[in-house]
Amino acid sequence: MSVVLLRAPPDVGVASAVREGLGGERKHLPPWLLYDEEGSRLFERITTLPSYYLTRAERAVLEAHAGEILDAWGTRVDEVVELGAGTATKSQLLLRVLVARQGSTCFVPVDVSAAPVNQARARLARELPTVTVAPMFQQHEAALAALAARPTRRVVLFLGSSIGNLEPNEAVSLARAVRGCIAPGPEGTGGALVLGTDLRKSPELLLPAYDDPEGVSAAFNRNVLARINRELGGRFDLSAVRHVAEWNEPGSRMDMYLESLRDQSVPITALGMTVRLGRGERIHTESSRKYGIEDVDALLGSAGMRRLRTWTDPERRFAVHVAGVI
Ligand code: AVI
Repeated sequence: MSVVLLRAPPDVGVASAVREGLGGERKHLPPWLLYDEEGSRLFERITTLPSYYLTRAERAVLEAHAGEILDAWGTRVDEVVELGAGTATKSQLLLRVLVARQGSTCFVPVDVSAAPVNQARARLARELPTVTVAPMFQQHEAALAALAARPTRRVVLFLGSSIGNLEPNEAVSLARAVRGCIAPGPEGTGGALVLGTDLRKSPELLLPAYDDPEGVSAAFNRNVLARINRELGGRFDLSAVRHVAEWNEPGSRMDMYLESLRDQSVPITALGMTVRLGRGERIHTESSRKYGIEDVDALLGSAGMRRLRTWTDPERRFAVHVAGVI
């Protein structure tokens, strides 16, 4: 799976995001910056780590309940859209059961990264040849707007807890855009959303998932500065920052930072700026929200949708929901 959501909005490039995020008092970088080629490769590794339970737990839900998830969608599905599809290995679990039932369907992976999607396309051509693959290499919201303009019997998949990396207002606006694509229309068009969310749980389980002993999460986080070095002529010394992953109880989220280990001034040549970081000063790089079922209901409700069914893994770490339009 490549990463998913959180790509640069079309009007915000790397340079302006870095200038804006590191130029002010409270330093921050948008999470989509984490996912260049190297960041996506590191995230792939994270998903295989023993402490990163999310991917395994979600796969377990999809494997155990694919048939029931399809039943909750209702009738024939002409199009399965996956936001941030990457290599589409989890969605293939659903596609397999779907084509066993109805013979064929169209799969629309939405991703800004072509390489993993092309890998998925080649694999699906071999393993599920009656699935027509029609990728959209776009930002999620742009793809959803285009899809809304052509109603069909459609299911939108948003898996992997990627919704958790969005700010609450961004999550609502994405959910509203999804609603626009699955709203009932003429001749039985409309459909459902399949949403994967990480459940709220003890920080004892969360902390190692985001700060693993192997150091992959730390490398993933630091890579954002390496990216600035590569793309913008930054001079960050990666050994002068530490990865911090903290549980934020009131926000129900993991917060990730890079914390400066000393006072430092870092030039970024392409931006003609120098970033000054005091010892202990932090750059916020990502948050990962953990949703209770009631939070999912509130999010869906504010987007004009409602939860139809939910499944969890046996340890109740991760949930997969099917939602429809109210
Ligand atoms: C992509 N997303 C769902 C991951 C998460 O768990 O929030 C991103 C991640 N960041 C650090 N580890 C994983």
